Amino acid sequence: MSHSILDEVFFAALIVLTEALPPLTWNAAYAKADAMLAKMTNDEKYLLMHGIGWYNVPIIDEGPLKAWWFAGNTPPIPRLGIPSLNMQDAAQGFRDAWRENAGLATCWPSLLALAATWNVETARKYAEALGDEYRAKGANFILGPSVNVHRSAFAGRNFEYLSGEDPFLGARLTEAYVQGVQSRGVASVVKHWIFNNQETNRRSESNTVDDKTAWELYFPPFQAAVDAGVSAVMCAYNKIDGVYSCANEKYLGILKKTIGFRGFVQSDWYATHAISVREGLDQEMPGTDYYTPEALRTVNTSLIDSSARRILAAMYRMRLFNTTKCSAPAKEWLMKDVTSEAHTALAKQVAAESIVLLKNANEVLPITNASIKRIAVVGSPSSSAASDPWGPFHWFPDGDYYSGGGSGHVTAAHLVTPLDGIRQRAAAAGIEVIAEPSDDIRRVKAAAAQADLTIVVVATTSREAEDRSTLNLDNNANALIDAIAAEVSNVVVIVQAPGAVLMPWRASVQAIGLMFLGGQETGSAWASVLFGDTSPTGRLPIMLPATDADAITTSKSANVEYSEGMATSYRNPNFTAAFPFGHGLSYSEFDYSNAEVQPCGEASKGPSLCLSLSVRNSGKRPASTVAQLYLQYPASAGYPAPLLKGFQQTGPLSAGASVTVTFRLSERDLSYYSLASGAWALAAGPSVAHIGESSRDIRTSLPITLGPNITRASEATIVV
Ligand code: BGC
Repeated sequence: MSHSILDEVFFAALIVLTEALPPLTWNAAYAKADAMLAKMTNDEKYLLMHGIGWYNVPIIDEGPLKAWWFAGNTPPIPRLGIPSLNMQDAAQGFRDAWRENAGLATCWPSLLALAATWNVETARKYAEALGDEYRAKGANFILGPSVNVHRSAFAGRNFEYLSGEDPFLGARLTEAYVQGVQSRGVASVVKHWIFNNQETNRRSESNTVDDKTAWELYFPPFQAAVDAGVSAVMCAYNKIDGVYSCANEKYLGILKKTIGFRGFVQSDWYATHAISVREGLDQEMPGTDYYTPEALRTVNTSLIDSSARRILAAMYRMRLFNTTKCSAPAKEWLMKDVTSEAHTALAKQVAAESIVLLKNANEVLPITNASIKRIAVVGSPSSSAASDPWGPFHWFPDGDYYSGGGSGHVTAAHLVTPLDGIRQRAAAAGIEVIAEPSDDIRRVKAAAAQADLTIVVVATTSREAEDRSTLNLDNNANALIDAIAAEVSNVVVIVQAPGAVLMPWRASVQAIGLMFLGGQETGSAWASVLFGDTSPTGRLPIMLPATDADAITTSKSANVEYSEGMATSYRNPNFTAAFPFGHGLSYSEFDYSNAEVQPCGEASKGPSLCLSLSVRNSGKRPASTVAQLYLQYPASAGYPAPLLKGFQQTGPLSAGASVTVTFRLSERDLSYYSLASGAWALAAGPSVAHIGESSRDIRTSLPITLGPNITRASEATIVV
């Protein structure tokens, strides 16, 4: 057969989707990459190193993307059977960049909402479902997860970030996400490396961060992604120490050498400023055109080989050579409807699990009391529509109250609004709903006056490329809530937000629930929790500050110095929380008892210890909770506060039932980064394990002396 016929056979339009096999080992993938590299010309290697599919117009901030291309593409190389890379954003599902394909993929809860579940298994299921949708759409890469640990409550992309404000929470969820997506044969790109913590001046600001803060607060979710076998890392727009992230030899070196990343580094779009192969940037994505064949010819071939080899290895590891053959433009693939009833049900379940019940005075919730005959549902967000995906910047839409704005936006085309969801569920309970989906105080008060209970729906949103100027809610919601609370007594406020919001009215309402941009099933998820079909299990992945002054602000300076070190969020003893990190109520109560500690694990894996205790549902209703462990290290570790080092969902417990929860602390969990030695050191000395329901609601504390000679679990000298 001639080459051209082979090519045709290879690119025959449809190749049946097969079940994804587990990824190859990196070593096996590198062996294949080496064999392929030997057959490639330099020009072919360059094709792997440069993204295509965009009109490169550097003046325009974002875009434009060519019709029916994926957000990120490399061309196929038919001669060698190398498939194209088809990469798509990410934050809440498969990005619908074209009007015609809105609604053909599920609009999932945001990654911050996923973080609020504090549930590793939920993160895995979410990622597996996402992987299935990507694969069915012909994408072989997902441009996610976004995992930066929030520094500032005002940052516009916080809704996209799976870590919330904590590196341990972020690391555990990131690991499950990467494994989940990749188990479906879709490669994962973790982003944005590194210190990409605000949108203000995002393409120029520089960050200065000491090594301890970097290793302890900002690297762990990336380390977890690498340990989970992530395929690529996206370097960010910002600079570090005055050097662009995508050309930053120091930090790309840490990623590849110290953190041990074996995949490839890809630039964010428009984030390349020079050829930076030597500094560690393997693949330039569009917006800029530095990685042209002419320019790459000037680069030492061993460096080109190293980058091409990394890209090929990631592709082999994920078995991309054997799967879907689809290359852009790919309208027929992007137009596939990959939604399903099962995914809608999972989107609802995750959204419901993500709801954080912040307050529930007098057990006003769930709505099961027979005396509640009429409910008023008020506030314009109760029936707010999803934003129009076809504005002038359709590849970069505005946020709405279901999905944040920018490259991660997914149109909630099959939306259940809060009003829809509540109305439907109330009807089943024989309760009348008085709807007043406006912010007109007079009309809202009139509706509330006729009802036995008023649900006020309030919201705000945010977007990529812009920080939030305020932590207040939209539509003058504070005044609206104050006015209603002054008039009637049974007031439940439900909040949809992209991150922290201020709640100055929190003392004057009965109940408050919070959902972090929950996707298309927002309304049905609210209904499920409000009416008690689900007992809330969400916990805050961030601290809700009492005032603006209780959070780090974003900065307009050219150089942003992280002078607070690790003292962000709950780790800052001077910040006052309206609701603390880790907080969240259920419809029951829990007792914690019999905490014990003992060395555990395999000696070969280094020291580790296990802390177990009994958690009992001491209330009247079936419910589950999230037991949380905050470790107060010996003073030598230099931490401003105890740190989250364990969390576990108990699973459903009937009234009176108990379960034993075990937290396992690894050698890394028992170590701290010493600036003096520039390395991790085992913590030694008096320490306390605090276990409870939030960073401020500690139910039991166990003093532990971490012995100086812990070298093996079996010989651990841990004295309780
Ligand atoms: C964002 C990335 C995204 C890329 C491609 C950029 O604006 O920062 O997160 O993956 O666009 O859409």
